[in-house]
Amino acid sequence: MFAVPMSEVRRIHASSGTTGRPTVVGYTERDLSMWADMVARSIRAAGGRPGHKVHISYGYGLFTGGLGAHYGAERAGCTVIPASGGMTARQVQIIQDFQPEIIMVTPSYMLTLLDEFERQGIDPRASSLRVGIFGAEPWTEEMRREIEQRLDLHAVDIYGLSEVIGPGVASECVETKDGLHIWEDQFYPEVVDPLTHEVLPEGEHGELVFTTLTKEAMPVIRYRTRDLTRLLPGTARPAFRRMEKVSGRSDDMIILRGVNVFPSQIEEVVLRTAQVAPHFQLRLTRQGRMDELTVRAEARPGATPEQRAAAAAAIAAGVKEGVGVTVRVEILDPQTLVRSIGKITRLVDDRPAAG
Ligand code: DLL
Repeated sequence: MFAVPMSEVRRIHASSGTTGRPTVVGYTERDLSMWADMVARSIRAAGGRPGHKVHISYGYGLFTGGLGAHYGAERAGCTVIPASGGMTARQVQIIQDFQPEIIMVTPSYMLTLLDEFERQGIDPRASSLRVGIFGAEPWTEEMRREIEQRLDLHAVDIYGLSEVIGPGVASECVETKDGLHIWEDQFYPEVVDPLTHEVLPEGEHGELVFTTLTKEAMPVIRYRTRDLTRLLPGTARPAFRRMEKVSGRSDDMIILRGVNVFPSQIEEVVLRTAQVAPHFQLRLTRQGRMDELTVRAEARPGATPEQRAAAAAAIAAGVKEGVGVTVRVEILDPQTLVRSIGKITRLVDDRPAAG
């Protein structure tokens, strides 16, 4: 897939392989420099300035998150703390010791880190963190509120995909937090109808498609991301259009008895519900010929049996009203769901294999 001789490819990465096998991507020296510029611009838009310390908990390795954030933060004139993912207790220790102003991490791993702060008896609101640059997976406004309130920082969204460069294709500005400005001097966006492929006008929801304008090693033309969003005019950076927060991927969609359900719609309901923690999982099973979806959420520590029952009823009613489907709800004991250390997988498909 490379458009230059292999001797000019300075680095390879690979996508997370959401749709099966990971895609290998390559960068020339100029591609790497452009990528660092775009991440640096994203950090600046988030409020980062030279001299700030940036704690990076995106995984380092073939995943583009860690190294992408790393070179962008250096280019922005920041001091990088290359923590990578995992070893959660130690991450909290590093944040306490080095006092970074900025953290770059998936939103689901941020929740894991927040729980760890509390487990160690440290008030996360008292930490040095002032800005969180969260991406690599879909997250909702409810999640933003939860994280901002528990950490006392600005939570902004960063988007990207390996096939285009990695993080830094689009990013939110801290002044407005109203969707992600797409760095259109490098990446030309279109939104298409995923079925007819027709290009949709600004403001209409569909699948995001990118054409790279300057990439050398692996240019893409009208690359279908499968990410669902819409284009909006620029605000804080008027020269660039925005994309609305991604609501999900077309291949994340669960079709439950004919109704389209996205994990992000369930996230909105769970995070609005008192007495449950912001951790949940979706489990698909089959009863006879009918698919059933169970929302498994965790009780907050100390929730009474009555409060748990009320939470279950509120989640079921909220999903019925907001999404239009009947789901089962299980309220689990605190700390029972597996915690994210990177990109979270929300859906467990326990339906028998076809055939
Ligand atoms: O996840 C690049 C990245 C790393 C972005 C760190 C932001 C921060 P891939 O592993 O190739 O690359 O996965 C790309 O992740 O098509 C989306 O479905 C999803 N994704 C990435 N950022 C967001 C976001 C990296 N902010 C796939 N909101 C994309 C929603 C996101 N989904």
